[in-house]
Amino acid sequence: PTPAAAPTQCVGPTFRSVADKPTATVSHEVPFENVCVLPQTPQLIALLSMIRNKDTERADFIFYSNRIIRLLVEEGLNHLPVIEKTITTPVGRTYNGLGFQGKICGVSIMRAGEAMEQGLRDCCRSVRIGKILIQRDEDTAQPKLFYDKLPEDIAKRWVLLLDPMFATGGSATMAVEVLKSRGVPEDRILFLNLIASPEGITTFATKFPRLKVVTAFIDEGLDEKNYIVPGLGDFGDRFYTI
Ligand code: URA
Repeated sequence: PTPAAAPTQCVGPTFRSVADKPTATVSHEVPFENVCVLPQTPQLIALLSMIRNKDTERADFIFYSNRIIRLLVEEGLNHLPVIEKTITTPVGRTYNGLGFQGKICGVSIMRAGEAMEQGLRDCCRSVRIGKILIQRDEDTAQPKLFYDKLPEDIAKRWVLLLDPMFATGGSATMAVEVLKSRGVPEDRILFLNLIASPEGITTFATKFPRLKVVTAFIDEGLDEKNYIVPGLGDFGDRFYTI
């Protein structure tokens, strides 16, 4: 299918009038309730411009990816349950606040998803992190589960599934099926990714309507090699290869 035209928008701080703001390409919007796209702020668009640029060096790619990952993790955590919690401050006053409720864990889809683990650890001290390795089967060309190591009590946890590029959704679909087979309810899985394709988003909205997808940007589509376009190339290669 021909990729849909990318939406553009004026982006910039409020002290500038719309006429004074630069125009940038922003995320596609989709009509699915299970999808949460990060606000298209000037910071996010600038961070994405850094990591999408083919001339950005590895150290900068890592630094700016980590900033986006942090935003995704913080947004993902906002979708977890909280309870009322009243505390007393050092000056003897009470504050009606909230406390975290429920245990969580991260599950990274190897290898690129492992790049998102530190961002999760930075937000959630001593969080348990499992791993899933899915690769294309040479004979069938279908995704195949090669390895998994998941917390034994994963069925009782909320799961933040980590993979930076949500392209066809083949690996992510298999990862979700593994999680469900271990007893994790669909509505306790949050799939965090930096860039998603409309194809992947539509597949998940249809197959797993109760699972939440948190992404920084929905791109135009996929090319003939199933790379996301305009995308950023191969995330794992850019993050891990010197
Ligand atoms: N994985 C990547 O690293 N990049 C893409 O564009 C698609 C899948």
